Amino acid sequence: MNDKRDMTGSDEKAANAMWGGRFAAGPSAIMREINASIPFDKALWRQDIAASKAHVAMLGVQGIIAGEDALVIANGLDAVAAEYETDGVPEDWDREDIHMTTEARLAELIGPVAGRLHTARSRNDQVATDFRLWVRDAFAELGAGLAALQQALVTRAGEHAADIMPGFTHLQTAQPVTLGHHLMAYYEMFRRDRARIADATARMNECPLGSAALAGTGFPIDREATAQALGFDRPTANSLDAVSDRDFALDYLWCCSSTALHLSRLAEELILWASQPFGFIRLPDSLSTGSSIMPQKKNPDAAELVRGHSGRVIGALTSLMITMKGLPLAYSKDMQDDKPPVFEAAGLMGLSIAAMTGMIAGATFNTARMRAAAEMGYATATDLADWLVRARGIPFREAHHITGAAVKLAESRGIALDQLPLADLQAIDGRIDDSVFEALSVDASVAARASYGGTAPDQVRLQVTRAARALGLEE
Ligand code: ARG
Repeated sequence: MNDKRDMTGSDEKAANAMWGGRFAAGPSAIMREINASIPFDKALWRQDIAASKAHVAMLGVQGIIAGEDALVIANGLDAVAAEYETDGVPEDWDREDIHMTTEARLAELIGPVAGRLHTARSRNDQVATDFRLWVRDAFAELGAGLAALQQALVTRAGEHAADIMPGFTHLQTAQPVTLGHHLMAYYEMFRRDRARIADATARMNECPLGSAALAGTGFPIDREATAQALGFDRPTANSLDAVSDRDFALDYLWCCSSTALHLSRLAEELILWASQPFGFIRLPDSLSTGSSIMPQKKNPDAAELVRGHSGRVIGALTSLMITMKGLPLAYSKDMQDDKPPVFEAAGLMGLSIAAMTGMIAGATFNTARMRAAAEMGYATATDLADWLVRARGIPFREAHHITGAAVKLAESRGIALDQLPLADLQAIDGRIDDSVFEALSVDASVAARASYGGTAPDQVRLQVTRAARALGLEE
C-alpha cells in the first residue's frame, strides 16, 4: 500500500460515467479505492444478472421501455454473463461494484440502449435484491451440509446404540451412557439449526426490487412480476425498510454462528477423545496431520480448526451487527461492508461442516476402552442408590448417603463398585443382598434408563429410526 496516496481528483480521469453530470473532477485515488466493492461483490454476478433480466423483462412488458430494447438488453446481459463465466469478472475500481461493472460492460457491447436498464431502479434496491438471492442460496447450502452431517451421526449412532461409555457432568464421570445416545445429542442440535435455517429462509423470501433508491418509483412497475420471476414469495412492503434491511444477512450469520457453536463443542469432544489419556477414538488419517519433530504424533488439526473457525464465524455476526446498529434510514454506504463477513462465514461453514462429516463418518471408536472407563469411574453409584429406593423403600437422600460410603470403600481399595464383596456392602447397610449386583453393571445401568429420550439402547434405536426417517434414509 502506498502511504502517499493522491487525494486530489484527477483531471484526466473523466468524471464518473454514472453520476458525472454533477461533478467537475473524477474521484481521487483514495476515493476510488475506499469506494470500490468490486473486489468482493463480484461474487454476486449471477444474482446481479438474474435480477437485471427480471427487471428489464418487466420494463418491457409494462411498456416502460420498448419491447425490442428490452430484448436487446436481455441478450446483452446474457453475453456479459457468458464473459464472466469464462474470463471472470474484471476488477476495475472505477466501476466500483458489480452493478456498475455489468452495466458498463453492457454499454460496451450493445451501445446506448444499455442506459435504459437502470430505469425505475437504483443500486440500493439492486444490491439488496442480489444479496438476498445470494444469501438464500447460502442458506440452502448450509442446510444441505447439515443434513449430510446428520446422516453421518445417525449412521454411527445406529452402529453404537448399545456401546457403553462414561457420561460426564463437569467432565467428571457421572453415569454410563451409550455412545449412540451421545452422538444423537448432536443430531438434535443440528436438527434445531436446520429448523432455524428453514424459518429464516421463509422470512427473508421477499423481493426488494422496485423499492428504487428509498421511496419507490413513479414508473408503473410490476413488483409482483419481478418478485415471482426471482422466486420470491412477494415484494417487500416498505421501500425504506427494503433498501436498508440486512436482517436476512444477520439471520444467516446467526444460523452460521449457532451451527458453528455446536460444531465447536463436537470438535472439542473429538479432540479430547482422541487424546492419549482418553483414547476413545481414532480419527481418520485423511483428516489428521503429523508433527515435523515428534514422530509419534497424530494431531486432530481438522477438529481444532473447526473449533477455531467458530470464533471467526461468531466474529462475522458481531461485525455486521455493529455495522448496522447506528444506521439511520435508509441506505448508507456502511452497508457495503455487509458482504465480506457473510462471504467469509459461508466459506468457513462449508469447510467446517465437510470436515466434521468426514471425521464422524471415518472415526474408529475404541468401544472397549470407553466401556472400561465407564466401569472404573463409579458411574453406577446412582444405580445403587436407586436400587436401595426401589428394592428396599429407603428414602433417596438416605440411599445417597449409604451409596457414598460404598463408593468410598471401593475407592480406598481401588476396585469397582460391583467388585465389593457382599459382606462389605452389608456391613455398610444390612438391607443389601446379592440381588443388588444385577443393578450395578454398566449394562444394567443404561438398560434401566428407558425413560423417553433416555440412554437405554432401545430408546436410542427408537430415536435413530425416527431420525433416519426424517432424513429420508432407507433402513
Ligand atoms: N456497492 C454498493 C453496496 O454494496 C451498492 C449500492 C450503492 N448505492 C449507493 N447509493 N452508493 O452497498
